[in-house]
Amino acid sequence: MTDHDVSYDLVSRPRRLRSTPAMRRFTAETRVTPSELILPVFVKEGLDEPQPLASMPGVVQHNMDSLKRAAAEAVELGLGGFMLFGIPQIRDAEGSAALDPDGILNRGIRAVRDEVGDDIVVMSDLCLDEFTDHGHCGVLDDQGRVDNDRTLEIYGRMGLAQAEAGAHMLGPSGMMDGQVGVIRAALDAAGREDVSILAYSAKYSSAFYGPFREAVDSTLTGDRKTYQMDPANRREALLELQLDLDEGADMVMVKPAMSYLDILREVADASPVPVSAYQISGEYAMIEAAAANGWINRDAAIRESVLSIKRAGANSILTYYATELARWFHEEN
Ligand code: PBG
Repeated sequence: MTDHDVSYDLVSRPRRLRSTPAMRRFTAETRVTPSELILPVFVKEGLDEPQPLASMPGVVQHNMDSLKRAAAEAVELGLGGFMLFGIPQIRDAEGSAALDPDGILNRGIRAVRDEVGDDIVVMSDLCLDEFTDHGHCGVLDDQGRVDNDRTLEIYGRMGLAQAEAGAHMLGPSGMMDGQVGVIRAALDAAGREDVSILAYSAKYSSAFYGPFREAVDSTLTGDRKTYQMDPANRREALLELQLDLDEGADMVMVKPAMSYLDILREVADASPVPVSAYQISGEYAMIEAAAANGWINRDAAIRESVLSIKRAGANSILTYYATELARWFHEEN
């Protein structure tokens, strides 16, 4: 008896639905479309030329011109959102440049909004770490601890400045207790009920933020463990979700993505509002570094990583690959 004479009477043969590319395309449960993608971008004050980032090959710090071009391209590709981070030239203990209508982030928002109108959701990072000279997400008390409530007061004003600059959606990412509620109240008191809030609800203190520190020229020494969540914890994510919902979050986020897909699934199952996940700088850098060494197939790894985030329950995904993924999507559809 030769091998091919062997045959079992199997009731189910799942391989049948994997047999051809067309069959696999037809039976795929998950796909990622451009409108679900949000592109995070960095704009830096005083740059003549866009500045490449060594730890994030392919990502740049923009100047105002290249920022506007990136926004126009995002619209053209049909991306869902465009999330701005600003890097000021001068920093101080209170992060004053964040409140200045002419501060780099607010100027960036205004320029982008002028460029794109309502054709893409213009989002802004609402946090002080890019603006403080010590690099923490909040202001410090006299003992050097991050002062929650004094930071909240600044966040409220920062949110309003971003709304006035033209942001459609604010992304509070500082993990201060009560931040969503205070920002919501500040917006509402100023008659800006129209501006929405994407709350970084479950944001973990992660080693994978490493390359972001280069991207924003961070001065932080130490860590953010007194405000960002402990990677060991799961229940806390549901508490943070509940608090942000109670405080008026329109959307919520889990961050980072890939090491927290279990959390993402849980938040996605529990949340009555849309859920985002952020494929962060270190996730990007790992793929790029491994691919540059020829250790993984870059394009396949990008697709698989983003697909896994969608499959875990994200309705939208922040990723530095948004533009490239959208281009692939249009080539293939
Ligand atoms: C805080 C903020 C950070 C990121 C987004 N918003 C840095 C941090 O929390 O340390 C990280 C994004 C990334 O790593 O890609 N402003």
